[in-house]
Amino acid sequence: MSKAGRWAMLIAPLLWVSAQGNTQIPDGLTYDQARWHPLHFKPASETAADYQCLACHADILERRVRSESPAGVKASEALAWYETLDTYEGEEETFHRRHLVTNFAIQVMDLKCRTCHLGNDPREEAGMSHAGGDPTLIQRKQVDPEICHLCHGQFPYEHMGIPGSWLEYGPAFQNNCLLCHMMFRTNRHQVNYLKPQAIEALAKEKEDVCFGCHGGRPWYRTSYPYPRHPWPGMPEAVPDWAKDRPTVSERRFLIGIVPPEELPAAPPKQGAALRTR
Ligand code: HEC
Ligand code: HEC
Ligand code: HEC
Ligand code: HEC
Ligand code: HEC
Repeated sequence: MSKAGRWAMLIAPLLWVSAQGNTQIPDGLTYDQARWHPLHFKPASETAADYQCLACHADILERRVRSESPAGVKASEALAWYETLDTYEGEEETFHRRHLVTNFAIQVMDLKCRTCHLGNDPREEAGMSHAGGDPTLIQRKQVDPEICHLCHGQFPYEHMGIPGSWLEYGPAFQNNCLLCHMMFRTNRHQVNYLKPQAIEALAKEKEDVCFGCHGGRPWYRTSYPYPRHPWPGMPEAVPDWAKDRPTVSERRFLIGIVPPEELPAAPPKQGAALRTR
């Protein structure tokens, strides 16, 4: 190989790093050691604190959107349909900033890196691609999009005795979810990535607070099958649509807010049965 060729091989990974963004590699670690850092994998990914991720990925929260697209559309003039709710404020922001640092986000949510990033294998990115493959990994994604469904599903009017969409029927209820939700399903949002008191307080000030996460900016055609927590005054009969619903939130969303002995049992590992066969 020519001298230049050898140089190219040496610097290629460095160029790749800069092309990927501005991930910081701490002194003493090679790129590969950082790339394969245990924090990217279970079990460490399940308990990682944000500052640990941000030590290398600070740019995730620093990056800003372009002020103008290559075709010349100015960010300041862009307004998408999901940016028209009364909770939306400020200039265009990146996806990560909109969930982690903008005003509304920090008022009602407490998302962490690990809420969405549960670890992935950068080489396989597919769970069962070979006999030794890790069945707990997600398929070709860095995040399991199930998490998005929780806050970006449809408005489940058919479970509420409301005849149709909130946009159509909301005015009949003064656009106020609390008219009914002072009584129904009042035991809600007790999870480690939301701020339940703040949500209730803010919902009294702004119409779209509740609707925003329950149909106001849906990326899905269905609503999320939420757990159905018992509430004071709950009727005894369980409606048909709710027969298969869990009655507590997912275990990992309760860690840190209920004592360890009250956590529901860990679910069996996905694919575990396949693996032992
Ligand atoms: C020691 C440094 C370091 C730490 C700590 C670290 N990362 Fe990374 N991470 C990297 C590098 C290097 C890459 C490769 C991509 C690049 O060059 O930008 C990467 C890639 C990723 C990717 C892209 C994966 C893919 O398949 O392309 C995600 C998502 C990610 N990291 C999330 C996290 C999260 C979440 C945490 C904390 C739990 C974390 N990282 C902690 C250095 C680190
Ligand atoms: C609301 C969910 C969510 C949260 C919270 C979140 N991420 Fe992400 N992240 C995503 C999604 C979705 C992608 C894109 C995944 C894909 O392309 O498959 C992504 C991509 C990434 C990537 C690789 C792509 C890139 O833009 O460089 C890194 C690195 C990353 N996230 C780090 C972090 C860190 C660090 C945190 C915490 C400060 C964090 N994320 C919090 C959902 C989230
Ligand atoms: C815990 C609730 C929650 C989760 C989980 C969540 N989001 Fe969001 N998302 C929000 C809220 C709240 C807003 C709007 C914030 C506002 O009005 O300022 C939002 C806004 C957005 C926007 C619009 C951003 C903008 O600035 O216009 C996109 C796109 C988005 N989410 C995609 C996703 C994706 C993809 C996922 C899964 C990886 C996800 N969200 C997970 C609550 C969530
Ligand atoms: C006319 C009264 C009424 C109004 C108005 C109303 N709801 Fe409901 N909602 C209900 C009832 C009743 C249920 C189902 C109770 C049960 O589980 O038996 C319900 C259930 C829900 C559920 C859980 C659905 C599921 O599948 O588990 C969500 C989420 C919800 N409402 C959000 C909202 C939001 C957000 C608004 C305002 C945009 C709203 N509701 C307005 C009466 C109402
Ligand atoms: C930032 C997003 C967000 C906002 C704002 C929000 N919700 Fe939710 N809501 C969720 C998520 C996520 C869940 C599921 C939590 C869980 O797993 O227990 C949920 C669950 C519910 C449930 C099911 C309760 C049960 O039985 O566990 C109802 C009802 C509900 N929300 C109504 C409302 C109402 C009413 C408001 C306004 C006062 C509101 N939501 C505001 C995200 C949101």
